Amino acid sequence: MLVTAIEARPLRSLERLRVELAPGIVSVVGPNGAGKTNLVEALYFALTGRSFRTSDRRELIPFGGSLARAEATVRDEDGIERRLLASVSRSEGRRHLLDGNPADPATIARSRPPVAVFAPDRLTLVKGPPAERRAHLDGFLAARWPARGELRKRYGQALAQRNALLSRLAAGYGNPADLGVWDAGLATAAAALVEARAEAVAELAGPFTATAAELGFDTSVALAYAPRAEGSAEEIRAGLEERRATDVNLGRSSWGPHLDELKLEADGRSLRKYGSQGQQRAALLALLFAEREALRRARRVVPLLLLDDVMSELDPDRRERLVARLGDGGQALITAADRESLPPPALATVVPMPPESEAGA
Ligand SMILES: Nc1ncnc2c1ncn2[C@@H]1O[C@H](COP(=O)(O)OP(=O)(O)OP(=O)(O)O)[C@@H](O)[C@H]1O
Ligand SMILES: [Mg+2]
Repeated sequence: MLVTAIEARPLRSLERLRVELAPGIVSVVGPNGAGKTNLVEALYFALTGRSFRTSDRRELIPFGGSLARAEATVRDEDGIERRLLASVSRSEGRRHLLDGNPADPATIARSRPPVAVFAPDRLTLVKGPPAERRAHLDGFLAARWPARGELRKRYGQALAQRNALLSRLAAGYGNPADLGVWDAGLATAAAALVEARAEAVAELAGPFTATAAELGFDTSVALAYAPRAEGSAEEIRAGLEERRATDVNLGRSSWGPHLDELKLEADGRSLRKYGSQGQQRAALLALLFAEREALRRARRVVPLLLLDDVMSELDPDRRERLVARLGDGGQALITAADRESLPPPALATVVPMPPESEAGA
């Protein structure tokens, strides 16, 4: 699946811009503030309906405007083109349309390539709290096994129900016996989620270590899943029952996969706590590449890789290794402030920002 064009009309500083995308690597080159990241964001927004920069989509609306809109054209293996249009408006909220019609998220997800983003602020995935890593891992497993895409949501719903009762009990209301039903539901959802996460990490761990080495890590880097609760649904249910008194006191669930951790380590030490900036960046890239590899092998889909400002973080040798890695198929959009930072294979298709027709205008 290929993205053949992206259009911002408008989005942030981009009033109206259409860029045709080639297969392989497309490099967007221009000075600071030219709108490169805005273009990457427009593409991500058109495909996913979200932004990787903010949870408040209204920030995408141009200053003084009332609407932000981005459209991507996607071509599938049979050559059929479809248009994905995302918009957010001050008065009408947000929309995500497939060929002009509202479509549910699952249908939209099937109509586009998976997307992976590297951007400097995405380093919080390595540096930040575990919740981000859990969300990221769950995003990967939804792309890897579409049928398991609902596991995270199902667990979240069961957890919210159990927590609602726990908080009533903590306040002196409700009937503790009712917890039995919620425990069973939560345990079933938890067991499925934990199993899927474990399988996902088992697939990613090898390629993660190998890619990190390829990107120049001189220590041994590892990815590991640290589940809070393990075992069958029945075992997890029993575990919940054991912790009931504690949970009623707290007014919430103190045990389960909502507390899992995805560990990124170098020589057995947490990269989150001890990694250098460069190591944390390389680890994030290694994770994205490991996921790309897994999706290619299992589903024969290759995620579209959006690499915002990745080159400025890397020395020349690592830049070359990175671009060589991208040459293995799929599509990648790279932004850079100058051509000199791009190794030759990344110069085959260069999109200037601002567009040449506008430069100097
Ligand atoms: N909602 C908005 N409306 C209008 N302009 C905006 C909005 N949000 C951001 N901008 C402007 O968009 C411009 C371009 O931003 P962008 O982040 O895309 O630049 P860039 O080319 O990626 O630069 P850099 O090389 O520094 O990363 C900035 O000047 C910023 O002020
Ligand atoms: Mg930028």
